Amino acid sequence: MIRERIEELRRQLHRHNRKYYVENAPEISDFEFDALMRELAELEREHPEYADPDSPTVRVGSDITSEFRSVRHRFPMLSLGNTYSPDELHEFVARIEREVGPTEYVCELKFDGTAISLTYEHGRLVRAVTRGDGTQGDDVTANVRTIRSVPLRLDGDDWPDYFEIRGEILMPYASFDRLNAEREAAGEALFANPRNAAAGTLKLQASAEVARRGLDCVLYQMAGDALPYDSHWENLRKAREWGFRISDAMRICRDTARIDEYIALWDEQRRTLPYATDGVVVKVNRYEVRRALGTTAKAPKWAVAYKFKAEQALTRLTGVDFQVGRTGAVTPVANLEPVQLAGTTVRRATLHNAEQMALLDIRPGDM
Ligand code: IVH
Repeated sequence: MIRERIEELRRQLHRHNRKYYVENAPEISDFEFDALMRELAELEREHPEYADPDSPTVRVGSDITSEFRSVRHRFPMLSLGNTYSPDELHEFVARIEREVGPTEYVCELKFDGTAISLTYEHGRLVRAVTRGDGTQGDDVTANVRTIRSVPLRLDGDDWPDYFEIRGEILMPYASFDRLNAEREAAGEALFANPRNAAAGTLKLQASAEVARRGLDCVLYQMAGDALPYDSHWENLRKAREWGFRISDAMRICRDTARIDEYIALWDEQRRTLPYATDGVVVKVNRYEVRRALGTTAKAPKWAVAYKFKAEQALTRLTGVDFQVGRTGAVTPVANLEPVQLAGTTVRRATLHNAEQMALLDIRPGDM
């Protein structure tokens, strides 16, 4: 029984990993994905006899494609532990304070795009590399150079000769809506959300098309051996002076009450932002404290992501179109009464395939 469940979860997660990382076309929400992953991790912990070195729990997805030069990261790009539970977030803080005593946290938004690492040498952008598997990623410099908010030369002269700055490539809702409208008019498949549109765009071979699509880039982490300050906050403030786009929504918080306030505020305010966010990241501010806490193989112990519940909306299905792709694959697409959701007006949504429609028993007129 348990063995079958483990195998079923591995099969499902493998498939969704591919949909998400390779095809940029997820079929389930991050919330559902995380729930499956947790169930599997739990079962594997309780039943080590069913361990498998290829289980989705021991592998992070990769976005490496063959068309780009693969580059090794000088500093690995770790991922973040995440939680949907305020209790777990409080436990994260409590654990840190048990280890190092009271300390400062920086709260920031979790931007829902695709991660990038920018390398600057002598004040000039020399490389932009995707996260890939965290150890090596794709060199997408030509594409990133087209993003207007990414400085090609830095202001000032007090930057280290070599450093990396990391952040998120985003597609603002306005660009996303325009792009999908154009694709619909051309009979092309729609992007499921701005994150997939950003990731898909970054992997295009034609940087002119990338330039046209209106990507943006927000930076949230510096890496290097000679950074100007020993704190995250001060380094990012400096980076803003050099010309990087750093979020205004960062706050220093010294206890869980302030962290909770920040989360409550941004769970509302994020609706007014021009791009998607899916949570809040809480990070220890001082590097000295970060070093004391250390990292696991996958993620730092000094940071955690608190994820917002995905927004939902109710609307009526007015009809279904069947789109035929270049390969001849048929995709059913729902026509919906327009509804406001997560910053855009949703009129159409993919139904993925006939099996999925049958499973949902979906019919025109349904809510
Ligand atoms: S810090 C070692 N800060 O979330 C920590 N990540 O789940 C490195 N993300 O790969 C990441 N907003 O693509 C950090 N304010 C933020 C973020 C953020 C979005 C993404 C990033 C990362 C993923 C981890």
